[in-house]
Amino acid sequence: MNIFQESRCSILAVLLLFLLQVSRADPDVQVHKAVGDSLDLIADYTKEGLAVQWEYNGTEFAEYEKDQFKRVKSPLFHERLKMYKDNISITIEDLKLQDSGIFTIVAERKADQFPTKTIVLHVHGEFNLIFILSMLLM
Ligand SMILES: *[C@@H]1O[C@H](CO)[C@@H](O)[C@H](O)[C@H]1NC(C)=O
Ligand SMILES: *[C@@H]1O[C@H](CO)[C@@H](O)[C@H](O)[C@H]1NC(C)=O
Repeated sequence: MNIFQESRCSILAVLLLFLLQVSRADPDVQVHKAVGDSLDLIADYTKEGLAVQWEYNGTEFAEYEKDQFKRVKSPLFHERLKMYKDNISITIEDLKLQDSGIFTIVAERKADQFPTKTIVLHVHGEFNLIFILSMLLM
């Protein structure tokens, strides 16, 4: 193993440790994506009697109830929003820098409220992503 490979390995190890610590300290899921990627927001619960709401920065943009997605009057994401009722998932395609923000999935069945899932999305340009990774390593 040459020096370059060795240092690459230790950089990866440090990064991994850092990510593990972050994920332990913070129950929210932090998601890093590049511009143009897509984001999957899946409600992986059994369908029976399930009602789900998807929110972006506190504004509802999608709703599922009685085995159907319901129309929500929202200008958010428009035609970039794909809904799949087979797996109760939503995909936001072609991410933009300004889509960075806080997504929440709120699910309930009858009287039972499931814990809210929070996904914090960070969308980066390609250069930006490399910059952030190198900041993490310092
Ligand atoms: C949900 O199902 C659709 C259509 O079958 C598929 O394209 C998509 O990738 C699935 N989403 C997830 C998160 O599995
Ligand atoms: C959503 O929230 C994030 C961080 O809280 C903010 O940077 C972003 O501008 C907000 N987006 C919109 C469309 O309000």
